[in-house]
Amino acid sequence: DGAKLWGGRFAGDTDPIMKKFNASIPFDQRMWDADIRGSKAYAKALEKAQLVSTKEMEQILTGMDQIFEEWSTGVFLIKPEDEDIHTANERRLKSSCREAAHGFEPLLFYLVNQVVTDMRLWLRDAIKTLTDNSLQLISTMVERAAVEIDVLFPGYTHMQRAQPIRWSHWILSHAVALSRDVERLLEIKKRVNVLPLGSGAIAGTPFDIDRELLRKELGFDGISLNSMDATGQRDFIVEFLFWASLCLIHLSKMAEDLMLYSTKEFSFISLSDAYSTGSSLMPQKKNADSLELIRSKAGRVFGKCSGFMMTLKGLPSTYNKDLQEDKEAMFDCFDTVQAVLQVTTGVMSTLKINQSVMEAALSPDMLATDLAYYLVRKGVPFREAHGVSGKAVFAAESQHISLNQLTVEDLTAVSPLFGGDVSSVWDYRSSVEQYRAPGGTAKSSVAAQLQIKKLQFIE
Ligand code: ARG
Repeated sequence: DGAKLWGGRFAGDTDPIMKKFNASIPFDQRMWDADIRGSKAYAKALEKAQLVSTKEMEQILTGMDQIFEEWSTGVFLIKPEDEDIHTANERRLKSSCREAAHGFEPLLFYLVNQVVTDMRLWLRDAIKTLTDNSLQLISTMVERAAVEIDVLFPGYTHMQRAQPIRWSHWILSHAVALSRDVERLLEIKKRVNVLPLGSGAIAGTPFDIDRELLRKELGFDGISLNSMDATGQRDFIVEFLFWASLCLIHLSKMAEDLMLYSTKEFSFISLSDAYSTGSSLMPQKKNADSLELIRSKAGRVFGKCSGFMMTLKGLPSTYNKDLQEDKEAMFDCFDTVQAVLQVTTGVMSTLKINQSVMEAALSPDMLATDLAYYLVRKGVPFREAHGVSGKAVFAAESQHISLNQLTVEDLTAVSPLFGGDVSSVWDYRSSVEQYRAPGGTAKSSVAAQLQIKKLQFIE
């Protein structure tokens, strides 16, 4: 039958456009599994409170299993009167065990505590998936960094040539940020994994519902402290949207670097055909669309995050239908971040580096800092050494030669402390090897970073 759950006090019908406007079933049906899990746990709590008999509970559980089967095989039939996943499952339950479902209905179907339970269950699983996707990417990057540890290339600050670094140092700089994203995601999980069920619509439940039983059944870490907070707040969703935004800030930064490195002018890397596309007009082109899309998705996710915060701003406390907006933001951010993590993993595992081009791009001016350090080792204060090295750069530029082409006489003209051993400065490999302190770009330091990253993700 087509009766609405809340139809009792209504005489007129809902306008068809309003009905469509109001319905969340087109998108919230993806929580069908969570909804069934919550309902089954609740049936057990109802039985314990003697609000349904053991037989009725069993009928509800069997009915729910049947509904589970229908959803998982794709045969569940959504009816026009189904407003959302909860009303759809309840309607279906009633059609299989009407009597038992009636005992069930006044208690569970305070939709506002049911929807938030479903969301917390769903998001908890989503967090697990995204953690796995992130770890997959991190391990791909760590493996790559281990294999290519001997490759040097120019490091940039302000997009200007700065100092020679290891390519692996660059890779790990991004892997380290991603590993913090994983930590943050696991932090959020603590606040997501709290049971709201048993909060009613606002005031709590007047029945002997064992919330501890519900918590255990559903694998939550804790029970919400306040029923108004449990049903009306969505900060756990906002935190997830923040997280998604920050994670994509990291990945868009990495994509931007790679895009630059893949240009003909740089030619440090080339993307696999699997992650590139062509131009319909210019036959020679190979576009880094994967990277551009990774970069673009950050904007999309920020939009969902700020959009949903706009929705929350100024809302009165407890449940308001505005909160229905939470789901599309959550689903979209999940789908987007997951796709970005998977594509980035693909890009990072298949791109080819051009080691000779990377190393040929190093230039002696990038050793000007080391030239200053040479003087520091001879007792010159760094600020002064920096000035002297700058003068040497100026001298080379004035003579239109590179820094390492200055003769010892040229150099002693700027500082008498320069000697024949200055030639040791002009070697990129020995340059990077000086940066041996933890966190630096020397081989031993990068190897130590690799070790730590590997260990962290072994379990
Ligand atoms: N679809 C609603 C939501 O997502 C469910 C909760 C309230 N529904 C209702 N018919 N009162 O927020």
